[in-house]
Amino acid sequence: MRTQVAIIGAGPAGLMLSHLLHRAGISSIVLERRSRDHVESRIRAGVLEQVTVDLLREIGVNARMDSEGLPHDGFSLALDGEIFRIDMKALTGGKAVMVYGQTEVTRDLIEAFGDRPGELLFEAENVALHDITSDHPTVTFDHQGEAPSLQCDVIAGCDGFHGVSRASIPAEVGRSFERVYPFGWLGILADVPPCDHELIYSNHARGFALASMRSPTRSRYYLQVAADERPEDWPDARIWDELAVRLGPAAAARMTRGPSIEKSIAPLRSFVFEPMGHGRLFLAGDAAHIVPPTGAKGLNLAMSDVKLLSEALIAHYARGSASELASYSEHALARVWKAERFSWWFTGLTHRFPSMDAFDRKMQIAELAYIRSSRTAQAAMAENYVGLPLETAA
Ligand code: FAD
Ligand code: PHB
Repeated sequence: MRTQVAIIGAGPAGLMLSHLLHRAGISSIVLERRSRDHVESRIRAGVLEQVTVDLLREIGVNARMDSEGLPHDGFSLALDGEIFRIDMKALTGGKAVMVYGQTEVTRDLIEAFGDRPGELLFEAENVALHDITSDHPTVTFDHQGEAPSLQCDVIAGCDGFHGVSRASIPAEVGRSFERVYPFGWLGILADVPPCDHELIYSNHARGFALASMRSPTRSRYYLQVAADERPEDWPDARIWDELAVRLGPAAAARMTRGPSIEKSIAPLRSFVFEPMGHGRLFLAGDAAHIVPPTGAKGLNLAMSDVKLLSEALIAHYARGSASELASYSEHALARVWKAERFSWWFTGLTHRFPSMDAFDRKMQIAELAYIRSSRTAQAAMAENYVGLPLETAA
């Protein structure tokens, strides 16, 4: 087997990269460990930045997003149940975000492979990367009873935090930066109308809560829970009661309760691996970095990485130019670190840390009060939330 770019992982990063390359006449094969069903049913992020929306439009995978996605011009912050709004659109000169689930983005991207199914292989097991520092790397794997060897020019490691790509880079070549938070997010999905038309991020003395949505009839809620808690500790009634307290009386009065159709706990972590590549292997998305979900940046960073990587690859093939690929890591990391900072800051502003004392709590309260009263502080927050501009080389 031979292709120009071997892509490991069919998450948003790998799928989008394949479409961007295809449009530029560059061949790729995506190797995904899990089944199509599994990949299409994972519930993850929900907020798309303009950069992501633009990319989906650029590759023509936007029909369902444009008809079913919910454009949001603002979001709310709450302190101990008192809510105030951040008017993103007014504060950023007209920018907004789109609420459209990662699950739907993934389904749309997979469906768009309709006429070229051989370029996306599910249940590709035991993927291994070889000769990544040579000009002719190969990828071996097991698929449908066979053990092919895929020859390529470049490998794109888009296989998430636990993938094989980052692990293939010798430890002495790179460096990890990490912050593990002492709590997780318990998420539920329920077929009930959302309690507000926009998202509410709430700092409450009992811990963080987030009211989000997937559609006018489907809500997504999150609660900060201790790192060692399990979903079984949280029957639906307990979750709704806790959400009502943490989101406050105004939101609680508008909250419709219903049975959860999904319930899971995700750990919170900040992580960056530098550099985002080695030899002919380039990392993108969660394979290279993780953010806590507070800023809704994970999926969007994955998309901006592959936009930058696709441009570097297009320059490489079109002009034989090596400089764009050589500077991909530095270029991508400049944006990654800014999103890391925003996600870390927003997490610190809104969560209850076990180590917090009364002074720390007063600082959170003062910062939220400052944001509430200062258009300048709100503008800085809104600018980051809608997504910093993608400075492409093109
Ligand atoms: P992924 O989506 O992780 O895709 C990687 C793909 O590679 C997967 O399909 C995986 O099966 C495959 N793979 C892994 N190893 C191999 C291998 N060895 N061989 C072949 N394939 C492999 N972000 C938010 O903003 N809000 C949220 O609420 C939120 N919730 C999340 C919940 C969970 C449990 C997780 C893990 C992430 C969450 N995120 C959230 C983050 C966001 O979903 C990710 O940033 C986004 O999915 C990154 O896309 P990606 O394509 O880089 O990686
Ligand atoms: C979601 O709807 O899943 C969601 C929204 C905003 C976030 C994180 C997750 O910051």
